[in-house]
Amino acid sequence: MTRPRVYVTRRIPQEGLDMIAQVADIEVWPEELPPPYALLLEKARDADGLLTLLTDRIDASLMDAAPKLRVVSNCAVGFDNIDIAEATKRGIMVGNTSEVLTETTADFAFALLMAAARHVTEADAFTRKGKWKTWGSQLFLGQDIHHATLGIIGLGRIGAEMAKRAKGFNMRVLYYDTHRRTDEEEKELGVEYADLKTLLCNCDFVSLHTPLLPQTHHMIGAAEFALMKSTAVLVNTSRGPVVDEKSLYKALKSRRIFAAGIDVTETEPISPDDPLLTLDNIVITPHIASASINTRRNMAIITAQNLIAGLRGEVPSNCVNPEALRSKNE
Ligand code: DGY
Repeated sequence: MTRPRVYVTRRIPQEGLDMIAQVADIEVWPEELPPPYALLLEKARDADGLLTLLTDRIDASLMDAAPKLRVVSNCAVGFDNIDIAEATKRGIMVGNTSEVLTETTADFAFALLMAAARHVTEADAFTRKGKWKTWGSQLFLGQDIHHATLGIIGLGRIGAEMAKRAKGFNMRVLYYDTHRRTDEEEKELGVEYADLKTLLCNCDFVSLHTPLLPQTHHMIGAAEFALMKSTAVLVNTSRGPVVDEKSLYKALKSRRIFAAGIDVTETEPISPDDPLLTLDNIVITPHIASASINTRRNMAIITAQNLIAGLRGEVPSNCVNPEALRSKNE
């Protein structure tokens, strides 16, 4: 019996690759940068499965070129790089890594919140440059985190973990989501629902945890920054385009808001000439919120499990479009 063919667009932790190699013929793109789109299209032509990262565009043209494709397993919880509607139409199942990275990502969002509020990276650079001359009562004054109010936009799994962390700092937590939680869930998490405007006006910290959708594109822009406190800190570990970066630059430069901590940018990687990099009140990291050794290993394993299930014609346990199987069987 011929083995299915799988194309893997980047090296992932070996455990995941080994699992796939047991059931399929596997080719792995060896470079650090993503494979060019034209090459990916070529590789997809005779692939039964693709293992992708969030930097790989999987669109209708690519799927048209891949008549045997049964499953795309994305090594990420987000899947805005894949045209889900087109995949579903063609009976292609799409898997993601929901759950395993939830707490690791929330940990990092909280780290960014703290770093931006308390000048951690700026103060570190200052020390390394030999600028620390004496103890100064006005040196690097930041914002208190304990007993402050945190606004969570998007109370899904990661947002909920963020709320739990905030409780350890005696913070009040407001949240805005298109889906309001039940009274019981709100009570259990210790969160209060607020509309977006109320949240922006009242929070000391605003942390974004929404997926990137047409409705969330530039959800935070000039009008939203105008509502925020001048002492507020924005945290973004979701997707870069949720924030209008030109407005973010203006808000930070003019001190309309106090600071920002972002792990994602509108274009990734951010250009070295980007004006955001000239500011001292922003912490910018290269999309590493889920990057712990354990979590990245677990992500590789789940991605492999999803891929293998899809190759077998089963619905992967983390499938974002289970209805694809139905459309395939119709
Ligand atoms: C995701 O999984 O979508 C993150 O952005 C990277 O882990």
